[in-house]
Amino acid sequence: MQKLIIKGNRKLSGKISISGSKNATLPILAASILANQVRLKNIPLVKDIFTMVELLNFIGVKTKIIRKKNTIEILNNKKNINTLAPYKLVKTMRAGVLVLGSLLTKYGKAKVSLPGGCAIGTRPVDLHLFALKKLGAKIKIKNGYIIAQAKKGLKGAIIHFPSISVGATENALLAASKAEGNTILKNCAIEPEIKDLIIFLKKLGSNINLKGRTITIKESKMKSSKIIHEIIFDRIELGTYMIAGALLAKKNIVIDKIDPKIIESEINILKKIGVQITKRKSSVVINNNKKLKNISITTKPYPGFPTDLQAQLMVLLTQVNGVSKIKENIFENRFMHVQELKRMGAQIEIKNKTAIIRGPTKLNGAEVMATDLRASVSLVLAGLVADNRTIINRIYHLDRGYELLEKKLKNCKAEIKRI
Ligand code: EPZ
Repeated sequence: MQKLIIKGNRKLSGKISISGSKNATLPILAASILANQVRLKNIPLVKDIFTMVELLNFIGVKTKIIRKKNTIEILNNKKNINTLAPYKLVKTMRAGVLVLGSLLTKYGKAKVSLPGGCAIGTRPVDLHLFALKKLGAKIKIKNGYIIAQAKKGLKGAIIHFPSISVGATENALLAASKAEGNTILKNCAIEPEIKDLIIFLKKLGSNINLKGRTITIKESKMKSSKIIHEIIFDRIELGTYMIAGALLAKKNIVIDKIDPKIIESEINILKKIGVQITKRKSSVVINNNKKLKNISITTKPYPGFPTDLQAQLMVLLTQVNGVSKIKENIFENRFMHVQELKRMGAQIEIKNKTAIIRGPTKLNGAEVMATDLRASVSLVLAGLVADNRTIINRIYHLDRGYELLEKKLKNCKAEIKRI
């Protein structure tokens, strides 16, 4: 098992370029099942993407990854597609469940492994199945698989989600995009990654309109021309490096290849804490020469503060004056990083779903263990702040979602190496 060794107490300065969004690439790869020919640019070369590509190959979609250009070519011209998403691929990469909507609407059937839970929660898919049933799918669960049929194709419907779900919104969008008649989805998730999926589907010929949390999909003919699409930047990676800058910037850290408008709420939260952020057209400049102050926040669906930045923000809050609070309102078990941070000297206690963080506390290096993707990057941030050396185990979690993490941090003078 690989480890990361970090020498702490380093000040950072330099430039970081943000990669394409993992959470936009995954649903768009699922959507490419609906197309004939696709070229996706600016894809992040991370484990979850390779697993999704493996799933497309298993189904029978031809793919070619051109690493040096962060591009993938997709060709979907096989007649007998295998409408199966097996457990071995879906269990490690839960977003594999997103092929359900595409396979069902295009081929009238799909057998997809239930994704199962993960470290941060049980991760049910009841809202996905609720939407597909409303569109006319016959669904049964057998031996850990979702077996879905729509012999006469899917029929448009009005679907009101009882609660907001990114994945369920994406699966419903994919299924409705080739359904007969019109579909209205209400109480949708509206993350920028979903907006990128909508742009992709429109290039495919879909007639989609997003207003507030309502998405209207009108019956349309799918185009057979080649689709070329550039994946949106990764706003969670951006937020992670903004927090790194807030913690460690000696003078400026410039983060580019982004659109600052998309992460207004995260920028406002960091400004409220006292982080100096200058917005430019396609970059932000971070420095931290001001005293930082405590804050209380709750994680919310976009445009609220994202649960995927909760662990990273918690590290920053260990370094600010006073008592801060973070309420985790999206997932039931997303405080796995707290124990590890406490082993490094952080003063954090958890009451109900709220972490209470006292600062500033001196963090000291330790051997720690990553548990999930975002928790693992919070340990990297803590290691960079702490004195002495930090060793992070199980960094395969990191490799699922952060492209060239060590290289990007080394470019800003961090002392970090993989063994
Ligand atoms: C997506 O997961 C992201 N993953 C997650 O990022 C992110 O944390 C999450 O959205 C919330 O923003 C991808 O996009 C691949 P949800 P998803 O459905 O779609 C409950 C990362 O670190 N729920 O919005 O699975 C669910 O349990 C990952 O990149 C149901 O109850 O999240 C959770 O409590 C982690 N029934 C809440 O809704 C359902 O059918 C939000 O989940 C579906 C979800």
